[in-house]
Amino acid sequence: MDARRFDPVDLAIGEIDKVIKTLSVPPRAARAAPEVPVQAPLEEAERQESVRLMRVNHSGEVAAQALYQGQALTARDPELKSAMHQAAAEEIDHLAWCEQRLKELKGRTSLLNPVWYFGSLALGALAGTLGRSASLGFMAETEKQVESHLRDHLGRLSAKDLRSRAILEQMTHDEAQHGAKAASMGGKALPIPITWAMRATSLLMTRGSYWV
Ligand SMILES: [Fe+2]
Ligand SMILES: [Fe+2]
Repeated sequence: MDARRFDPVDLAIGEIDKVIKTLSVPPRAARAAPEVPVQAPLEEAERQESVRLMRVNHSGEVAAQALYQGQALTARDPELKSAMHQAAAEEIDHLAWCEQRLKELKGRTSLLNPVWYFGSLALGALAGTLGRSASLGFMAETEKQVESHLRDHLGRLSAKDLRSRAILEQMTHDEAQHGAKAASMGGKALPIPITWAMRATSLLMTRGSYWV
């Protein structure tokens, strides 16, 4: 029996389950969030900035889940499908750490997350149809852009917010590894206009989730 053959109803139920888990069920991390010594209390302005930045990072991880789930859905290559499922599973830690940190900071997640989720799912599903090298190239470019905005956030977070900083530093390290893995599996550089379009979409998300 071929365990990989599912009918459209099974696939739809599986996808609805993933949507609910990503958007409403608190994610469970496989790794504990990076530990830091007790940090000094933040000023109100510092706390608010940490909340906004961690909300953006949380939205980025919601989008990453959807991008990889979308690619897994339409990829024909079984190895690629499995790599996308594995990537989504590894990103769960980041999603959980950002959500946990937002709670500690008495902040909330973005109201726009369903928009980012479904937009990214569609984009990922499209990328999955483009074949192995383009799909892995899309993954490598995604990770590169996430890594770049994490570095930007590390420059903007209060130096006192050691806990958020430790989480972002570990995420930066992980994203660099994900990007390198996608490239080593055969990901090819994407045409420049596509990388610009991805940057524009990412800018929309980072600006939107910063405030809403
Ligand atoms: Fe991530
Ligand atoms: Fe990643």
